[in-house]
Order: sequence, then C-alpha cells, then structure tokens
Amino acid sequence: MDSKTLPHRKLAMFLLLTGVVCSLYSVTSAYLVDDNPYRHLITLNEKASYQLEWLVDWEAERIIFNITVQTRGYVGFGLSRRGKMVGSDLVIGGVDSEGTPYFRDYHAIGNQMPIEDPSQDWELLEASETGNQTSLRFARAFDTCDADHDIPITMDVLSLMWAYGEVDDDVQYHFQNRGTYQAYLLDPDLTPRAANPKYRSRHPEEAQALKKLDFARTKVLPEQDTLYWCTFHKLPFTRKQHIIGFQTVFPNPQNASHVHHMILHRCRAPPGVSQDDFFGGPSRSEGTECYILDQPNNLPVPYCREVIHVWGVGGRAIFFPENVGIAMQELEDEYFMFQIHYDNPNNGSVNVTVNLEAYYTDQLREHEAGVMQMGDMQPGAHSIIIPPGSLNHVIHGHCAPGCTDRIISPVDENGQGVLMFATFLHTHISGRSTRLMHFRDNKELPWINYDENYDFNFQQFRVLREPRQILPQDQLIYRCTYDSTSRNGSAIHGGFSTREEMCTVFTYYYKSSRGFALCRSEVRTDRYMDHLGISNYTWSRPLRQMVVTEPPEYAGLTMRDYINNHIDWTIDYRRELQRLQIYEPQITQCPRFYWNDGRMFTGPGSDGQRYTSVDPDFEHSSTMPLIPRWQRPPQCTREPGRGN
Ligand SMILES: *[C@@H]1O[C@H](CO)[C@@H](O)[C@H](O)[C@H]1NC(C)=O
Ligand SMILES: *[C@@H]1O[C@H](CO)[C@@H](O)[C@H](O)[C@H]1NC(C)=O
Ligand SMILES: *[C@@H]1O[C@H](CO)[C@@H](O)[C@H](O)[C@H]1NC(C)=O
Ligand SMILES: *[C@@H]1O[C@H](CO)[C@@H](O)[C@H](O)[C@H]1NC(C)=O
Ligand SMILES: *[C@@H]1O[C@H](CO)[C@@H](O)[C@H](O)[C@H]1NC(C)=O
Ligand SMILES: *[C@@H]1O[C@H](CO)[C@@H](O)[C@H](O)[C@H]1NC(C)=O
Ligand SMILES: *[C@@H]1O[C@H](CO)[C@@H](O)[C@H](O)[C@H]1NC(C)=O
Repeated sequence: MDSKTLPHRKLAMFLLLTGVVCSLYSVTSAYLVDDNPYRHLITLNEKASYQLEWLVDWEAERIIFNITVQTRGYVGFGLSRRGKMVGSDLVIGGVDSEGTPYFRDYHAIGNQMPIEDPSQDWELLEASETGNQTSLRFARAFDTCDADHDIPITMDVLSLMWAYGEVDDDVQYHFQNRGTYQAYLLDPDLTPRAANPKYRSRHPEEAQALKKLDFARTKVLPEQDTLYWCTFHKLPFTRKQHIIGFQTVFPNPQNASHVHHMILHRCRAPPGVSQDDFFGGPSRSEGTECYILDQPNNLPVPYCREVIHVWGVGGRAIFFPENVGIAMQELEDEYFMFQIHYDNPNNGSVNVTVNLEAYYTDQLREHEAGVMQMGDMQPGAHSIIIPPGSLNHVIHGHCAPGCTDRIISPVDENGQGVLMFATFLHTHISGRSTRLMHFRDNKELPWINYDENYDFNFQQFRVLREPRQILPQDQLIYRCTYDSTSRNGSAIHGGFSTREEMCTVFTYYYKSSRGFALCRSEVRTDRYMDHLGISNYTWSRPLRQMVVTEPPEYAGLTMRDYINNHIDWTIDYRRELQRLQIYEPQITQCPRFYWNDGRMFTGPGSDGQRYTSVDPDFEHSSTMPLIPRWQRPPQCTREPGRGN
C-alpha cells in the first residue's frame, strides 16, 4: 500500500486528547449489524460525522475497522488505556489532493508529537474519498507483537481515540472534531438497532416490535453526599413475559453524573399476605431510603431482595443470548423495587431524571436467568482496608466451595451446575483492575472475566463469549486491585459512598437454578482482627459511617478516623495486612432464599437484617488455594511488522 509521511503538525490534534475522557457519561451504544454479535456500528459524535464499524475476525485474530468521516481531510484513529495519550497507539490516513491514499502507524510517548512506528502494523485495506466523505478500511491483529509501540487488543477495556481534520496537509484546530469512546472490542454485543433512540424514531415499526417497559424516575436530591433511594413499581401485565435486555437513558446527559448505580429487584410479599396489600401502598408513595442498617424499616425493602438487573456509571445496553430471558409477571400483581444510588458530592439540591428501559417479549425463551452476586461483604468495613499511598493493593472476595454447593445443588437436577453468561465487574473510583477467578478440584480454570484497565466511568454488564459452567463445590474468588495514591495520603475502607470502596461482581446465569444468590465473604479470624487492633464496630446512621465499638479505647471513632489516625502504616504493617487479606481464611455468607409454595420468598431473617436465625448453615469457610495459577494466554503469537 502506497503511503507517505505527513507533516507532523496534524498529529497535534491528538494531543488535545491528553488525559481527557470526552465521552465520560456517553449514553451512545454500538449496535449490532447483520445479527453478528462481533460486528458493530457506532456514530462517535453528535454531528454524526464520524462513523465507526468494527468486525472481529476470531479466526485470523484481528479486527477489521471501517471508518467513514464527513471530511476531505485526514482521519485519525487509535487505542489507549484509560484515555491516556502516553502509550497510545494511533493511525492517520486519508486520500490526498492528488488522489493518493496515505496511512501510517504512530505511537505517543508523552505530551509531544506522536512518533511514527518503526514497525507498521496496522494494515490499510481500502481508502476512498467521494464528495465530502473519506472512508478507510483497515485491519489490526489483536496483538502485533510490537509491544513498545502498539497496544494489544484484549478483553480489557480500551479507549478508542478518534479525530479528523478539514484538510490533508494543513491543520486548523477544530477542537470539537475529536473524542474518545470506551469499548470492549472483543465482547459479543447483541444490542439490536431498534434499541437506539434515534433509530427508533426513524423506524417506528421496528421500534414497536421491540417492546419496552420504562422504569423512570425524577428526584430532587436532598443536600447530602450519598443517597440510596428505593421506589416500588407494579408491573402492568396480565401474563408472564421475558425480559431480553436493558438500557439506561438520561434525557439530559448531564444528569448522569449524579447517578452512581441502579438495581432492579423483584418483590415477594410474606406468606399469607397479598402482593397488592403489601406493596400497593408503597408503590403509590414517593419511596424510601434503602439501607437503614440500624433501625427497622417501615417500607418493605427487605422483601425485594431478588436482583434482576444492575447498572453502573457509563453502562450501555445489554441484550441477552437468544435462548435466555428473565421472568416477569410470574405472579399476579408482581412488583419490582428500583434502587438508585445518587452521588451528590457537592451536597447541592439537584433535580435528576433517569429511565431504565427493560426490553421484553411474550415469546418465552428456553431458559430463565438468575443473578448471583459475589465478592466482599458490604459495606466491607474491615475486610476492605487499603493503605494510604498504595499503587496496587489487592482485596479478595470468596464464594466458598460449601457455598456454590449450597447455592447450586438443591435445584440442580442433572448435576450440570449453572451456566454463567454475563458479568458486571464493580469497584468504586480507586479500583484499577478486577478479575473473577474460578477453581475446581485444586486447579485454577481460566478467569471467567477480567479487566486490567478497569474504569469506574464505564461499567458495562458484559456478555461472555462462551457461557461458563459452574459446578457445586467450585470456588470463585473475585479480586480487585486498588490505587490509593491519588487520595492525598488517606487510607480507604469499605463503604457505600463512591469515595469508599467495594469489591463486588454481579453475574447472570441460567439452567437448573434460578433466582438470586448472594455469596459474599470477609476475613474475621482472630489473627486478622488482632493485626487491625479493633474487634467490633457498628453502623451509625447519622454519620453514614461504620463506627468502632470495641476495644473501648477506640469506641466512637469512625472507621475512616481509625485507619487514618490510629494505624502506623509501616512497610511491615502494610505487607502483613496484605498477606492476611489474601491468605487468611475468609467466611462466606450464602444465605439461601427459601421457597414458599414453589416460589422464591425473599424476606429478611427474623432479626430483619441477617439470616442466622432463618438459616444457621449459611456460613462457609474458604481459603485462597496455593496451587499453580492460571496465566493469561501469552500475548505475542506472530512475527512483528507484518503490516508493511
Ligand atoms: C464499510 O463502510 C462502508 C460505508 O459505510 C460500507 O459501504 C461498506 O460496506 C463497509 N464495508 C465493510 C467490509 O464493512
Ligand atoms: C461539501 O462541503 C461543503 C462545505 O461544507 C459544501 O458547501 C458542499 O455542498 C459539500 N458537498 C457535498 C457533495 O456534499
Ligand atoms: C437534570 O436535567 C434537568 C432537565 O433537563 C435539568 O433541569 C437539571 O438542571 C439537570 N440537573 C443536573 C444536576 O444535571
Ligand atoms: C457534604 O456532606 C457530607 C456529609 O453528608 C460532608 O462530609 C461533606 O464534607 C459535604 N461536602 C461538601 C462539599 O459540603
Ligand atoms: C424536576 O425535573 C422535572 C423534569 O425535568 C420537572 O418536571 C420538575 O418540575 C422538576 N422539579 C423541580 C423541583 O425542579
Ligand atoms: C492534601 O492534603 C494537604 C495537607 O493535609 C492539604 O493541604 C491539601 O488541600 C489536600 N489536597 C486535596 C486535593 O485534598
Ligand atoms: C459486636 O457488637 C454487637 C452490638 O453492637 C454485638 O451484638 C455483637 O455480638 C458484637 N460482636 C462481637 C464479635 O463481639
């Protein structure tokens, strides 16, 4: 392919991207083309002038990109980690005024001009310019083996960087003609075009065929930092339906910065009480705070424990494989509870509107999905302690073998376990990488899913390429790595606020077992508690914090105060804390939601919060296996410099 080197000036366009994630709260989704879950089309800007299509070629282990831009000038495209310019991998191409195509591979080493790669690894397949439009079709191997200059395409999230200019060889700065878009390029995505609001308005017939139920809420937030608000909704159906996908829409995208997560739950009245009698009143009320850990709750939050869906910041649509749906309206008078975690760090009084769309069908599918939530106990106040100034502190949440056994076997008739088909990997803002690990018979299986570039601002419920079979007695460990160096010398503990941490993963599964399973752990051995120097604490509602109760000399201190002012963070103290957090036995709680009349009853234990009195056998011990560990597949499998 003929190519020529461009004046370096135009590359300055990319520099403007430095450190900026322009599409932070983007609600744009890529949509399925030709029913191929690995072929996607997306318009990357408001003006609809930059269109990107990509097709994953699994056999050749490469991606074909197809870019169409409304310009006669140059077109830029690239990959980076967390939107950072440093280390990004870029191409610039187009067709010059003499009709000759050009296309080169660059890399950026800092806030300076990107440098042409010695090894040209992006392969131009076709370049054309017609009217005001430039099209480029090019291929990129998942891994070019040019580790110094190219970014491998992996399961981890990547920032796609895009830019274009009006002319080929003279740059005028049109600052709006650039941006980034976070994407899992290799994940299957089954979102149909008719889920795109713009497409829907142009194709009303297709839109009608894809039915949706809206869970919409407008709330004026009180002047407080963190609010978990729950509302109750009666379903409008007279017979059973299957939910096939979800999408979240903010009518005003600016509102998105105040919504941290949303959870949709199914409600079940206690035995002997009708659904309408129990939930009718609450559904006509404005709702209630969700987690009032230290006092009885008037509204029926604890009776709505079954999780149906979870959305996190930046999350785009998820559509299920075509053989799976989530049951809706199984009972007469079914109610859902909709929980929203509002984040309001400036404590202003703001008005926020959001709509969670549930797409559904009355053509019931073969399998019904359930949700399993795993990871660290919440709010994780003593298990999650991240020392100040740590670059990569690790926290593990276990689902013990005794717990998978308990969760899966009672309803698994054929011994085949369950098939997990999607994951929602979650931490708060200090999380840097996550992985869901899987152990069986003293062996580590490939990680179920992972993201080494975890980005709090893009939390996607990701469909797996192959569903993963989970058998009774399997052990699952969810691992989160945190960076506290940007916290100005503060240690971080577990909690509900965005600025405290969580380590939790939600998964969808089907076959044999259905409903909601909870499998969360904490370290509470004497050795660990001795190291920590505290033995008990409690939730303080006025402070919205965990407060130490024992030993007496620290009673009354918040956990935040305790770990920041009463621990001497020496190297040895940190190292021992990390060792205990990873290798001390953990206690997994896996309360079994029992069945009433064949239906899952999701009420609280008799003490309102914990399950001990309902289910004395709900705790199981689990230890990190010391066995040869599974490794990510080696990345480089070909000769570098194939492209040119
Ligand atoms: C690339 O995009 C152009 C313009 O959108 C389209 O005509 C063409 O079919 C696409 N080619 C492939 C291989 O996807
Ligand atoms: C190309 O763009 C110019 C300037 O925006 C416009 O005047 C012209 O009509 C466009 N031509 C075509 C073929 O769209
Ligand atoms: C949310 O959207 C509404 C309606 O567009 C707007 O009036 C309000 O200012 C927005 N609030 C925030 C905090 O973005
Ligand atoms: C907001 O309120 C919280 C308590 O809810 C307080 O800790 C925080 O300092 C306040 N922030 C601002 C910006 O006023
Ligand atoms: C909040 O926003 C909604 C929709 O934008 C509007 O109908 C409502 O009046 C607003 N409420 C307040 C108190 O501003
Ligand atoms: C960091 O801590 C120092 C000293 O306590 C303080 O002066 C500064 O304002 C803090 N910076 C931030 C971003 O919190
Ligand atoms: C912790 O304190 C609570 C009351 O605040 C008490 O019920 C519980 O037994 C204590 N736990 C331990 C391990 O001492």
